[in-house]
Amino acid sequence: MALIALTSAKGSPGASTAALAFTLTWKNPIVLVECDPAGGDLLSGYLGRLEMPADRGLLQVAMADTRNNLPDEFWNQLIDLDSPHRKRLALPGISSPSQANTLRPTWPRLAAFLSGLEYAQPGYDVIADCGRLATTHAPWPLFHRADLVLVALRPTSLRTVAPVWPVLSELRRDLVEAGIPPHRLGLLLIGSGPYKPREIEERLQCPVVVHLPFDTKTATALCQGGRLKGSRDLLRHAASAEAAVRESIAALRSQPSALSQAGASHVG
Ligand SMILES: Nc1ncnc2c1ncn2[C@@H]1O[C@H](COP(=O)(O)OP(=O)(O)OP(=O)(O)O)[C@@H](O)[C@H]1O
Ligand SMILES: [Mg+2]
Repeated sequence: MALIALTSAKGSPGASTAALAFTLTWKNPIVLVECDPAGGDLLSGYLGRLEMPADRGLLQVAMADTRNNLPDEFWNQLIDLDSPHRKRLALPGISSPSQANTLRPTWPRLAAFLSGLEYAQPGYDVIADCGRLATTHAPWPLFHRADLVLVALRPTSLRTVAPVWPVLSELRRDLVEAGIPPHRLGLLLIGSGPYKPREIEERLQCPVVVHLPFDTKTATALCQGGRLKGSRDLLRHAASAEAAVRESIAALRSQPSALSQAGASHVG
């Protein structure tokens, strides 16, 4: 399908959990790439019980890139979340924000490589967890290459909704400057609040593409690596979001001037 970038503003935690939920539930082969310049969570969180070297992942790929060896090292560094099927793969992020500067020269080549993975054999979708946009060293080349940029948002109060506007404005401005239509932006709502999805779309001038429920049990298991018990509401909605994301991207590709609202997947 495509390269999907996830980011957020302050006050709306849940992007990494959503990225992992998508990776664990989507039907198409998928790779989760932890691109957050503030550091990845997988090795200490969901994969915390597996004892793996702390530098496994993106940093090794960036170092290989200096030797023009990015593609080979990329496949070496991946962790199979669904072993041995290689259908759900993950590239852990950096272990410290101090390593973020090292990634800067690699972002353009990594972004180009990731956007081509849908044409690999087998083809992979890529979910790039880009962290909060407020951090320095944001992976801009990934936003430029992404078929869809989803901005996570918890619609619980004005305090959580308001910070999303400057993030969307910055993304729009940057895409336009890079000569890319800014319609590739969509919202990923997490939980519910006083603002309904339609109201948020109107206020933020951006379509809601995915709506995930607030589900503490499942989210905690995804963050800490415990057993997934209970209703797994979050995973069920994450699974059904695949169709909505696919529809939005298909609409974007056929009509590059507008992001379809038809694909929005709402809770309830
Ligand atoms: N859908 C959800 N329902 C309930 N709790 C959630 C949900 N998603 C995330 N959380 C909780 O919010 C916290 C932060 O989640 P997560 O790490 O996904 O946020 P983030 O946006 O990636 O944060 P950061 O900016 O630090 O990377 C965790 O404690 C997690 O369990
Ligand atoms: Mg995160």
